[in-house]
Amino acid sequence: MNKYIAPHREWIDEISEKLDKKMRYVRERSAEKIPYTAVDGVHDDWRYEKIGRWTNGFWAGVMWLMYMMTNDERYREIAVYDEEILDKALYDSQSLNHDVGFIWLLSAGANYRLHGGKLSENRILTAAFSLSSRYNINAGYIRAWNGADRIGFSIIDCMMNLPLLYLASEITEDSRFRLIAEAHADSALKNHLRPDGSVYHIINYDDNGEVTIPNKTQGYDPKTSSWSRGTAWAVYGFVLSYIHTGKQEYLDASKRAAHYFMSNLLDDAVPLCDFRAPKMPVYHDTSAGTCAACGFLELARIVPENEKQMYFNTAIRILKAVEKDYCIWSNDSDALTLNGCEAYHDGLQNLPLIYGDYYFIEAIYKLKGGEVLLW
Ligand code: GLY
Repeated sequence: MNKYIAPHREWIDEISEKLDKKMRYVRERSAEKIPYTAVDGVHDDWRYEKIGRWTNGFWAGVMWLMYMMTNDERYREIAVYDEEILDKALYDSQSLNHDVGFIWLLSAGANYRLHGGKLSENRILTAAFSLSSRYNINAGYIRAWNGADRIGFSIIDCMMNLPLLYLASEITEDSRFRLIAEAHADSALKNHLRPDGSVYHIINYDDNGEVTIPNKTQGYDPKTSSWSRGTAWAVYGFVLSYIHTGKQEYLDASKRAAHYFMSNLLDDAVPLCDFRAPKMPVYHDTSAGTCAACGFLELARIVPENEKQMYFNTAIRILKAVEKDYCIWSNDSDALTLNGCEAYHDGLQNLPLIYGDYYFIEAIYKLKGGEVLLW
């Protein structure tokens, strides 16, 4: 990848220096928080009533990425603190849903990959036991959420939770976890990924595997439009399943979503929240862009030489566009990236989102040559 990185080296070095400068300041202001967004420039804190939500691992993930880029112990200390705080959610077993992958891969999983340790290993396995128990053996999918009205729901986001199961199989040398992940990925390929490379956010299965599309989902419209962050979950999620299993169909699925994503980027390369929403109002989603950029960089790393450039260039285009128009480098705000879109409807647009920040930093870590894959 070096020959692709070289022309951008100066920019990458400048951004990683700016990241460390900003994060040294923000980490002290948020050292004991689990942030989700920033309100009037100040990180909020989801340690209490919102503990266990899907975004709770991203702050620990930010701290681990910064630690790996700088070797500064303070980042590690904060990440470890977060991992311990998250036990409150881990042992509240009935509240857990499929997002245990997002949460514990970036906290306990990162710690385990870097330092090993029985406590982190136990957390990973406890989360993986919970995730694998959500598998519907008849219909072949992992149930997303809890609640009687959502029993058959599978969501495309789950592709990012599957690496927890691959890790559990690696740790235990027991293939059951990986087999469940593969079965879910096969169903997602068949049912979530549309022929054109866009995705359905939610699929509702019955016990025979018959599917319907619910009326209220992410994106502008459940049936006719296309949610960009969902497409990013498919780009990155399927390539991760390929990396962990070597199954060609997952690489092909990731590429299909990637090609759709690439061809829907407009001049400024920051994705819209929904690629098929009405022209107005315009809602961007920087988090879809930064997550997809991480997927594009993995694709660029693993495809043959004559395919690398287009994936690499797309990642760089997105990251530079997000940086130019939507990054705050001053210490006036704890947020790094602006204009994330939590959801197209319900007034949840134009927000800083911790996962937008996380994936931006993960992409810079990859561009700096970082080799630890936290997923
Ligand atoms: N995983 C939830 C979302 O992307 O909104």
